[in-house]
Amino acid sequence: MLGLGSERVVRIPTDNQGRMRSDQLRSTLAGIQSPVLVCAQAGNVNTGSFDPISEITACIRERPSWLHVDGAFGLWAAASPTHRSLAQGIELADSVSVDCHKWLNVPYDSGVVFVRDATSHQAAMSLHASYYVTALRAERDNCNWVPEASRRARGFTVYAALRFLGGRGIAELIDRCCRLARRMASRLSETQGVTILNDVVLNQVLVRFSDPTGKEDDEFTAEVIRRVQEDGTCWLGGTTWHGMHAMRISISNWSTTEKDIDLSAEAILRCAKSK
Ligand SMILES: Cc1ncc(COP(=O)(O)O)c(C=O)c1O
Repeated sequence: MLGLGSERVVRIPTDNQGRMRSDQLRSTLAGIQSPVLVCAQAGNVNTGSFDPISEITACIRERPSWLHVDGAFGLWAAASPTHRSLAQGIELADSVSVDCHKWLNVPYDSGVVFVRDATSHQAAMSLHASYYVTALRAERDNCNWVPEASRRARGFTVYAALRFLGGRGIAELIDRCCRLARRMASRLSETQGVTILNDVVLNQVLVRFSDPTGKEDDEFTAEVIRRVQEDGTCWLGGTTWHGMHAMRISISNWSTTEKDIDLSAEAILRCAKSK
């Protein structure tokens, strides 16, 4: 969308949880004179880990720069006093995106972006034509803040969900899902041949299964995922993490209970045993 071209993207090495290494960012930036746009992530899609946003900000503070944080699902952690520290420094970003259709559980199409510099944002997003009817007074013309000129009132469901849950309700939802992710990890890790690959800090659990014949763990993990999908007790997908195939469990539904987790863990272990 920025039109800078993918060849101009420099990837910064990450640590074993997928977090951007700020020392590596600093040394990469030393060789770049032009303004930079740094994209960080709050909530790694595989591990749920958070880039060290305060450290990243410190690396770019002295130069013309823009820090964007993709918080599609991870930003919700900031709504919970228990998990808020994961997103430390996010308030220093120039822009942060989050999806309400993920952890807030509202229908699709509810992406939100927060931008520090309202004037630049509006200048980039507004379009004018002589036939347009514009707000007469100081009312906000929503079409001046988004890429489209027309759209349905997506904010309505977001408003309703936020009003219904309140700050405390959202914190409970986040904390509950994270607690359930830890419960799932602990249920699965009790069994031999099952390895949890990530530190379960949020709602993501990465699981790998050892092939009982001692041969192909990648293939066996893919086979277990296929069996779980067929079994239908729960749904989960696969991913590649550090070159290994892994089962990717995300817990984000408001209605998921401890019983669901226990039934799902049993189903997964059953699928890992069945021939
Ligand atoms: C971390 C992250 N960023 C961005 C996106 C893209 O969001 P959307 O599907 O709303 O375009 C996703 C979607 O899964 C995501 O998990």
